[in-house]
Amino acid sequence: MAFKKCAVIGSINMDMVLRVPRFPAAGETLTGSGFQTVPGGKGANQAIALGRLGMPVRMAGRVGGDPFGQEYLDHFRRSGVDVAAVDAVPGASTGVADILVNAEGENCIVIAPGANGLCDRAWLDRALAATADCDIFLLQLEIPLDTVAEAVARLRARGKTIVLDPAPAVPLPAELLAAVDYLTPNETELRIVTADLPESAGIEARVRHLVGGSDRAVIHKRGADGAYIGTRNGIEHVPGFSVKAVDTTAAGDTFNAGFAAGLAMGLPLREAVRLGNAAGALAVTAYGAQQGMPTLAQAQALLASEA
Ligand code: RIB
Repeated sequence: MAFKKCAVIGSINMDMVLRVPRFPAAGETLTGSGFQTVPGGKGANQAIALGRLGMPVRMAGRVGGDPFGQEYLDHFRRSGVDVAAVDAVPGASTGVADILVNAEGENCIVIAPGANGLCDRAWLDRALAATADCDIFLLQLEIPLDTVAEAVARLRARGKTIVLDPAPAVPLPAELLAAVDYLTPNETELRIVTADLPESAGIEARVRHLVGGSDRAVIHKRGADGAYIGTRNGIEHVPGFSVKAVDTTAAGDTFNAGFAAGLAMGLPLREAVRLGNAAGALAVTAYGAQQGMPTLAQAQALLASEA
């Protein structure tokens, strides 16, 4: 079957992951375990997850001219991700993330953007030229916001399909929101991108506000509780999957990859969201951002187990 081609425009990080019994308080020293340095970054995670699902995907991003950068380029290639739109910036560091994972599989993340912060307009010109043959674009907010806004505006003008993950969340400029086809906030992000609503506003009011009578779909990710789909026709809940969570890092990234894979395969919106739910659920069953990312067959097997 011929799939539409996906491109991811976003961040590339090396993750330094450590298990902790609980998150430390300010000023406290804790003993952790299981230290690992593994590939991550919200953009790169989405690209690797698409590759794992067997989708044609091109990554657009920047690494540093350091050993992490070279290691990551090799990792992309081994994972079936096209790196024609990834460059290495001499003298810059590859982005890194310090991640603590507690006993419940929840995480705390601090990132140092490094080369991700150097994704400027001149870089974007090259990245868009190198992804011109792609149909579905996945973006997040770990590269500069004005670069994301410019990318979305130009992709919109070219009639491309745009999936924006507002993570890490900031209030979104109205023009940026207006140009997106699919917005995929989790619970925290939903609150931040609708911070203009009263604190007491519920999920449905916030989703409805983001749809705002437009053609855009808002996919509110809720982990094991599945997702809400908001469109101008109303709001629908799509149940999720209950799995044993080892590490929830990149569950949202893997959801986005599964969802975009569904779009690339031509699935209806609800089915694409179900595929996102299944992919995201399987991602949390292993330690580290990318180890649990499923193949298409694994995600489809989980979907079939639901019927
Ligand atoms: O979404 C998970 C990712 O967030 C991690 O891999 C880390 O690199 C941060 O970007």
